Amino acid sequence: MSWVKEQSPDDKIVQENIIKEGKLPKHIAVIMDGNGRWALERGLSRTEGHQEGIESVRDIVKASSQIGVKYLTLYAFSIENWKRPITEVGVLMKLLEHYLRQELEELHNNNVRLLSIGKSSSLPKVVQRLLHESCETTKDNTGLTLTLALSYSGRWDIVRAVQMIALDVRRGKVSPEDINEDLFSNYLQTKGIPEPDLLIRTSGEMRLSNFLLWEMAYGEMYITDKYWPEFRRNDLYDALLNFMNRERRFGKTSAQVASENYIKQKDSYLQRVVNAIKGK
Ligand code: IPE
Ligand code: IPE
Ligand code: MG
Repeated sequence: MSWVKEQSPDDKIVQENIIKEGKLPKHIAVIMDGNGRWALERGLSRTEGHQEGIESVRDIVKASSQIGVKYLTLYAFSIENWKRPITEVGVLMKLLEHYLRQELEELHNNNVRLLSIGKSSSLPKVVQRLLHESCETTKDNTGLTLTLALSYSGRWDIVRAVQMIALDVRRGKVSPEDINEDLFSNYLQTKGIPEPDLLIRTSGEMRLSNFLLWEMAYGEMYITDKYWPEFRRNDLYDALLNFMNRERRFGKTSAQVASENYIKQKDSYLQRVVNAIKGK
């Protein structure tokens, strides 16, 4: 089913109004937390919390694609999550398997490109195969890039990058003087994905839990008390509006940022005038 066609007219208007408010984040990352607490507070099992969490994934992926966000990265399972009881880990892997089986066609039909980051060799073989197939099938899609962080941890990726750089130094492919932030970023699994503009964490926890440690140097954080299974598109819209009203300074002063924005606006206005005169 095409997500554009199925969107309600009201939701479309809400999205158009948000777009008018300001600049959409290019990349949203989400720490989907609180499935267990959501379930326990309702007298349900943690498994049911994870199941309901998948409904939120579906809605947030769709809404992000419909509104025109280019990159969405979902923290679905951390390396540390392997320490959970084996039965819970088993349930999570089964849910992941079902998600990949069920969603591939719809994601592909809606031009979504699927990627994964993390130590995929730790995942069950069937999940590895499904992930590989899904990423291959969707690799040329040009809409939303949906990255699933599976068996992922930021430190793991950083250490892995250091090892690979060290090997390339030993092979003579890289000299130590050439190692800089850009080169380092290119050895991370997030290579090619812009850094997150906005990180959303549900369930009120105020920590990164080993997610995108390097990439989040200047990402804006938005923390909501809502548990992940109750976080749906209207909550995403709240996060977007909150993000759009922030000033990102990247170490500069507010006055510098304001004057840079003024110059950018003036340049784009002048460019539009020039194009109009040239009849473009
Ligand atoms: C997030 O919900 C899902 C995963 C980490 C896989 P949790 O399972 O962490 O839920 P809480 O934090 O225990 O409520
Ligand atoms: C973070 O949630 C990992 C994912 C959402 C996949 P956790 O529930 O594992 O985080 P901590 O243990 O509370 O920091
Ligand atoms: Mg948790």
